[in-house]
Amino acid sequence: MFQDSSFSALPEALRVSGLGALRVGLIGTGVVGSGTCQLLARNADLIAQRVGRPIRLVMAAARDLHKAAQVVGPDVDLVSDPLALVRHPDIDVVVEVMGGVTLAKTLVLEAIAQGKHVVTANKALLAEHGSEIFAAAQARGVVVAYEAAVAVSIPIIKVLREGLAANRIHEVVGIVNGTSNFILSKMAEGGQDFAAALRLATELGYAEADPSFDVEGVDAAHKTALLAANAFGADVPFAQVHAQGITELDPWDMACARALGYRIKLLGIARQQAEAIEVRVHPALVPEGHWLAQVQGSMNGIWVNTDAAGPTFHYGAGAGSLTTASAVVADLIDVARLGPAGGPARVPHRAVQPTAIRRWPVLPIGQVASRHYLRFAVHAWPELLTCLPDWLQSVGLDVQSWAHVRHPEDGHQDALVVLTPSLSADDLAARLELLRHQSGGVVPVAVWRVEDLPCSAM
Ligand code: NDP
Ligand code: HSE
Repeated sequence: MFQDSSFSALPEALRVSGLGALRVGLIGTGVVGSGTCQLLARNADLIAQRVGRPIRLVMAAARDLHKAAQVVGPDVDLVSDPLALVRHPDIDVVVEVMGGVTLAKTLVLEAIAQGKHVVTANKALLAEHGSEIFAAAQARGVVVAYEAAVAVSIPIIKVLREGLAANRIHEVVGIVNGTSNFILSKMAEGGQDFAAALRLATELGYAEADPSFDVEGVDAAHKTALLAANAFGADVPFAQVHAQGITELDPWDMACARALGYRIKLLGIARQQAEAIEVRVHPALVPEGHWLAQVQGSMNGIWVNTDAAGPTFHYGAGAGSLTTASAVVADLIDVARLGPAGGPARVPHRAVQPTAIRRWPVLPIGQVASRHYLRFAVHAWPELLTCLPDWLQSVGLDVQSWAHVRHPEDGHQDALVVLTPSLSADDLAARLELLRHQSGGVVPVAVWRVEDLPCSAM
């Protein structure tokens, strides 16, 4: 059915003996699917040179076939039933860029059962069902590749699994949701409010089908779970990953944090402790001299701290069509290089061999220690300006930095902001309760964590 004309057109020197084209079936022709079609077509010759055989899109599945036809062009068969694509004997590798979890899981497991490799950008699917999917792929001897699922333009899965494979990875801290960082950047510039910035991110194709996944920190949590899995060779139960997004972040806190020399960013943090791991997503203060503080717009940045290579920093686009397609097609190239018989995956799905995967306990967020930023509203308690340091000291909070920040327009928002010593959130909550009791009701109106990352020369 699918004639391999592109292969016969390849110069002799580029052919690997006996290898035909890698035949791709694409599920989803939206933002990522359309970029994938475009990139496969635009760089077809170069890709064939790099692989030794062509990669050909032969079939695509979508709901709106008329719209999909505009994307894939006349030479690609279109079907509305993705299961028919997955089961088609002429498809070697299934690219799942449809999204969602339930149907996507059925399709990916069926593709594996059919002996087909899978390339997916679906972080929700792998964060929630990765263990089952990777086990099925391992048993069937096929690859499930997912570079596009985390920080699209940054080949961070390859960095963790291959480039840094000799290292113990201590921690991975990243800005991994382009939409949230885009919104925070717009808010910090003062040009756009939250709702307008989210609308624009959606129009630009950055947001998830359900944008609450972006702004509530769920998408970043999916990605951080995958980063932790690859950094620590871990099976990370997604239900234990703490996810807090940017919806409760007041722009006034971004200004107050600046007064203390920090920026507020939505961070995904995966850190190895002696007997547990931290895997968490929340807004946090980052020192303004750290690379992560400089990541603006829909860009992503990931800082990886290791025992031999030391700290490394990785930067690139965090969302978008061609930017994500770059990772999808790179995964297709890896699959194509396996050859027609496939063969076992050269690189384990989660950095270590399946028998070495560990289920580290995930430290509950209340037990994670860090410094904290507290904002007190001065207009509500004017006596704070003189009493607060003593009151805080009396509950064991020796403040390390503090500032009185005057709101440029609204005196009612004047703030006293302080940074506490490092302590767990549970411990902090107990001390703040004591403060409330002793002071006749004083409570901070905002509390955020501080991530004291070392600032190397930039
Ligand atoms: P879009 O909504 O733009 O595209 C989804 C595509 O899937 C559409 O073509 C849609 O078809 C198709 N589709 C949905 N349901 C079905 C179904 N039941 N049967 C057949 N086709 C179906 O999403 P994106 O391209 O933005 O995202 C796709 C995946 O990639 C998601 O998992 C997302 O998290 C991930 N991702 C997205 C990035 C981005 O920047 N956008 C970056 C990295 C990962 P139709 O249009 O006909 O409804
Ligand atoms: N919605 C995601 C983001 C897409 O904004 O980061 C890339 O995974």
